[in-house]
Amino acid sequence: MIRVAMDGPAGVGKSSTAKALAKYFGFAYLDTGAMYRACAWWCMNRGIDLDAEDISEQEVTETVGAFFTDGHFDISVDPDDPRVFADGEDISQAIRSADVSSHVSKVSNIIPVRHVLIAAQRAYIAAEAVDESFSGGKGIVAEGRDITTVVAPDAEVRILLTAREEVRQARRNGQSAGNGVGADNVAARDRMDSKVTSFMEASDGVTTVDNSDLTFEETCDVLVGIVEDAI
Ligand code: C5P
Repeated sequence: MIRVAMDGPAGVGKSSTAKALAKYFGFAYLDTGAMYRACAWWCMNRGIDLDAEDISEQEVTETVGAFFTDGHFDISVDPDDPRVFADGEDISQAIRSADVSSHVSKVSNIIPVRHVLIAAQRAYIAAEAVDESFSGGKGIVAEGRDITTVVAPDAEVRILLTAREEVRQARRNGQSAGNGVGADNVAARDRMDSKVTSFMEASDGVTTVDNSDLTFEETCDVLVGIVEDAI
């Protein structure tokens, strides 16, 4: 069982490269950002005003807790078809809206919410160690902001994927123009996210890959090489 933990800021291309890496090795793929986005979507759809000055952290935490424990949430870890569901509804596209992007950090900044998600993420990672899992016990690529440091600090492979801010913003602008992804201010989101997670610099033992001047294929080649070295 190989666990690949990958962190990095917004717009760096974590999802696309992590997916490609998982496909290459026949591993499962866990998009933890999609889990936080789904929580923000769920809260907003339950009428919680995430713009309010006095957000009730307790109410958000209870709402997110019920989302997971009452079986409303589901995620597919197939890198060929990664999707997120709420009560069986496919919300994979809805969670990429500009509205969710600009509010997700309000939810992910609440520490008890993080505890709910960290536990769920560890369970998905552990589940891949068994024969009947998606990968058949081979491995998983999990990507996010705190995977190398908090969720799976003992992962076999730990990578920080990074790129210059202007490169990341340009990539995200390109995505929102072409793929139905909502507008996104990567710097603002990184600032908010950095209050509770540490992903701008690699922690001890984490390999940094700066892909500012690399194509998608070149980035994938570097990542495949790092995983092959670890196998
Ligand atoms: O990766 P993505 O940009 O989709 O993540 C959306 C948001 O989810 C981040 O901006 C951050 O607020 C939150 N997140 C997090 N911890 C993770 C993954 C994502 O707080 N491990």
